[in-house]
Amino acid sequence: MPTTTDPTRLSELPIIQAPMAGAAGPALAAAVTRAGGLGFLAAGYRSAQAMGAEIDELRALIGDAPFGVNAFMPHPAPTPAEADATRRYAGSLARAAARYGGTVGTPAPGSERDDWDAKFELLLARPVPVVSFTFGLPAMAQVTALKAAGTRTVATVTTPEEARVAVGHGVDALCVQGAEAGGHQGGFGNPDAPAPYGLLTLLTLIAGQTELPLIAAGGLMTGRQIEAVRLAGASAAQLGTAFLRCPESVAPAAHKAALADPAFDRSVLTRAFSGRWARGLHNGFVARHEAEAPGVYPYVHHLVSPIRKAAAARGEADGLALWAGQGWRLAREEPAAEVIHRLVDEMAAARKACA
Ligand SMILES: Cc1cc2nc3c(=O)[nH]c(=O)nc-3n(C[C@H](O)[C@H](O)[C@H](O)COP(=O)(O)O)c2cc1C
Repeated sequence: MPTTTDPTRLSELPIIQAPMAGAAGPALAAAVTRAGGLGFLAAGYRSAQAMGAEIDELRALIGDAPFGVNAFMPHPAPTPAEADATRRYAGSLARAAARYGGTVGTPAPGSERDDWDAKFELLLARPVPVVSFTFGLPAMAQVTALKAAGTRTVATVTTPEEARVAVGHGVDALCVQGAEAGGHQGGFGNPDAPAPYGLLTLLTLIAGQTELPLIAAGGLMTGRQIEAVRLAGASAAQLGTAFLRCPESVAPAAHKAALADPAFDRSVLTRAFSGRWARGLHNGFVARHEAEAPGVYPYVHHLVSPIRKAAAARGEADGLALWAGQGWRLAREEPAAEVIHRLVDEMAAARKACA
């Protein structure tokens, strides 16, 4: 393993495939790493054991080549008032469950920890090149221990204040996520305030306050944009939506099709699927449930998850969480290696145009 503590120096290219729970598994991560980028596994919503199995699978595909693993940080257990709000939402989801032939899920007590303690132990026992944290920071001693094991650590931040806290926590790099990003806003400052900053402004503010390597995320679909964020202070770009339609992505077929369907005409931030703000294409589920969904993460996710699965099995995009960044219209159906090659060509052309 190379000795740098900068996760953006591990791969030949400054291109990171975003961890995407429900879409990015070993096949996508392997394809991106093989093409010279940094592939990422998403450990959110899975057990430590399932995470370990995916790491083994990826290693069997890429050997000693670099990759990352993303983990969701624990949330507090719901208060009695939040538990009541969750029960009310469960009641109103019954009709959605019937519509797609599914059931309303039952959140297991303790699911708010997302099995982090066991994941941490596994990542310490069998270190991986990079670990990134979403929805918070682990204990400082855990960051120190992962670094001592040779792992580079990355914190996801959505405000300059979160960046300050993460730097003080001793992480090696920051993933700077703008409001344009598809999927969840991964910060931890104020979960009630959705996505306060666009990427370029956030990057500029954070670049002025820390020397740590910055990974830019949110709405990036082209090599020209990657060069733009590098000029603004990023060491690398993290792209999610750009890889969603790849054959290696395990996003549901109806999700992939919706990204190319002109009937879906806007992306919105919604709490309807999980209780935390996340960006996806506006569909019937969002229209019907946005107003009543309580901000009780991840309990709302566990209520809705079987409904989403039932809708996916029926190919009904109307009942899916159609996570997508603001640049979704540029997502193409092509192998991940081709996405990377195109980005590299576009980056070279952009540099030439600016020379
Ligand atoms: C389908 C999907 C799932 C995602 N899941 C995760 C996740 O598990 N962990 C995480 O840190 N970020 C997740 N994200 C957010 C990405 O890390 C990244 O911030 C985002 O994709 C960047 O914006 P873009 O999609 O416009 O490229 C997800 C994004 C998408 C589109």
